[in-house]
Amino acid sequence: MNKWDERYNRVEDAFGKGVNGFLKSQLDDGLLKQYQTSKEANPKVLCVAAGQGRNALYLAKQGFDVTALDISSVGLEQLSRTATKQHLSIQTICGDITKLDLGQNTWNIVTCFFMHAPKETRIAFYKKVPDALKPNGHFVFESFSVKQLELKEQNEGSIGGPSTPELFPTVEELSSQFGMLDIEHLVEAERELEPSPFHKGKAAVIQLITKKQP
Ligand SMILES: C[S@@+](CC[C@H](N)C(=O)[O-])C[C@H]1O[C@@H](n2cnc3c(N)ncnc32)[C@H](O)[C@@H]1O
Repeated sequence: MNKWDERYNRVEDAFGKGVNGFLKSQLDDGLLKQYQTSKEANPKVLCVAAGQGRNALYLAKQGFDVTALDISSVGLEQLSRTATKQHLSIQTICGDITKLDLGQNTWNIVTCFFMHAPKETRIAFYKKVPDALKPNGHFVFESFSVKQLELKEQNEGSIGGPSTPELFPTVEELSSQFGMLDIEHLVEAERELEPSPFHKGKAAVIQLITKKQP
């Protein structure tokens, strides 16, 4: 049992029940419409580091064909139970992102939110994304930025996020790794996180959206 399994066994909806706010804003700002009006039925989304599945559930409700991937079998079992209760169908893959084949030209959207993984793991994952996306496919990513360490220290009602600098991706890392895709959005920002037992208040984040060329 890994630390995420233990956490999910202890805490229901550890990172909130509702969808990630950045993902929702991107869907509302056009991503959803773009896929709902495309000729392709049920566009395929891969939610990497899906956890207990708050984003996967939301995407499935919007009509996407969702696969949730995580290293935590406990999180994925909880997600599957919730999906069944809500009459949603979500596929799950349990494993380490560095060891899994994400396929070729397979996904319309790949998402990854707050994975908190070491640099070696992040880079191994990033390298799989361009091939795994279908042409015109999107990668939507958000994580704490290293500035979160300062916010936590100031303790202005902000909690959550790793304490090890190595676990924070940087703008340089993302821009160099995703140079072969069109980078539509790459910013460091501060925003209020969806309240949850582990994330509260103002957070320093890095957000990325890339699009694969046709
Ligand atoms: C902070 S949680 C975020 C969960 C979810 N994205 C959310 O926002 O609710 C981080 C998740 O990343 C997963 N994770 C970390 N390293 C991973 C790896 N190497 N492969 C797959 N999943 C990983 C953990 O199991 C955990 O569920």
